[in-house]
Amino acid sequence: MRNILCLLLCLFALTAVAQKQKNLALTPPMGWNSWNKFACDVDEKLIRETADAMVASGMRDAGYQYIVIDDCWHGERDSLGFIHPDPKRFPSGMKALADYVHAKGLKFGIYSDAGWKTCGGRPGSRGREFQDAQTYASWGVDYLKYDWCNTEGLKAEGAYMTMRDALAASGRPIVLSICEWGDNQPWEWAQDVGHLWRTTGDIYNCWDCVYDHGTWKSWGVMQILDKQDGLRKYAGPGHWNDPDMMEVGNGMRTNEDRAHFAMWSMLAAPLIAGNDLRNMSRETREILTNKEVIAINQDSLGIQGFKYSDQDSLEVWFKPLANGDWAMCVLNRKSTPQQLSFDWSKHAVTDTIFNRQLETSQTRYKLRDVWAKKASGTTAKTLKAEVPAHDVLMLRLSSSKPAKKAAKS
Ligand code: GLA
Repeated sequence: MRNILCLLLCLFALTAVAQKQKNLALTPPMGWNSWNKFACDVDEKLIRETADAMVASGMRDAGYQYIVIDDCWHGERDSLGFIHPDPKRFPSGMKALADYVHAKGLKFGIYSDAGWKTCGGRPGSRGREFQDAQTYASWGVDYLKYDWCNTEGLKAEGAYMTMRDALAASGRPIVLSICEWGDNQPWEWAQDVGHLWRTTGDIYNCWDCVYDHGTWKSWGVMQILDKQDGLRKYAGPGHWNDPDMMEVGNGMRTNEDRAHFAMWSMLAAPLIAGNDLRNMSRETREILTNKEVIAINQDSLGIQGFKYSDQDSLEVWFKPLANGDWAMCVLNRKSTPQQLSFDWSKHAVTDTIFNRQLETSQTRYKLRDVWAKKASGTTAKTLKAEVPAHDVLMLRLSSSKPAKKAAKS
């Protein structure tokens, strides 16, 4: 009898460990990550000032939560194998830093790697997964970005499952951000493993370019966007496609930053800012804190948007939203303005994967321009607009009264 009880308890414990920590990312995670702007130049002062700026800029109130330190925070492992932060850059230690971030009403994230070394050559978690997860939990970590450098001989699915189980065993709710660049099709296996998975290699701070590092490449915003093709069916509440952290505020033109933010919102992508929050222009702050655009990204249905049409680099995208609303985003990829003319009566917009239909013949939708923040007519009239170069027109469609009166009985 005692043996059976033990067996049942063990089985219960194992199932509990194997569970991804549910309900942690029911909408795409929002936050900031150090890598895109600061690379290895991270220290506790930067992190504290970034937390301050996230509050002062209104970003926290707009929904941003996580402050994530990417690569290079690490010092050495001690004689028992416990990892410590770089004592010069983080003299107060990670627990104190996490406490500071938490006191601001924010959450704290950190970075490691499934291999023996991180991409920046710091100690990785291979063979130390459970020990590291315990350490992170003791520091108060809420989010782990887990990279894929130096993983020779490892299988991605298994390696990420190990860290998932280690995080679960730590007893602390920790978001697991899978960063293996889409190499092993994580969308096919990661739904119960992590909360988000990178779909591509690294983003590069340009609208439309490829940067060749020799042995690997990084990708402009348009290249990353195109690589999302076919992946939307895998995303949903708790498990998101991650087209990488944003480059908004890192040097592209304002209209390009706006289009970048709009498209990441249409993709239900994690909104992880990658700029210096302490020194933002007004334009950058307004882009990152546009609550109407964020509401499209954070919509509770969690359906990733899709490209509906593409004519001469003027793309029309749609995203079904809760309560029968829709988002529409018209993206002009060209470097000259383009005219849009969209006659609703000539289009049948259908989401065949999530089974939704935009019924403009039955329902008249009100249009709201979420960048201009003003009403913009209804679907009763052909939508006409000039879309500037490398920019978007982004609308929220809300159903109003029926287009036709019901016939009298
Ligand atoms: C990889 C990741 C990046 C960043 C660096 C850090 O390239 O894809 O996002 O974390 O490593 O070294």
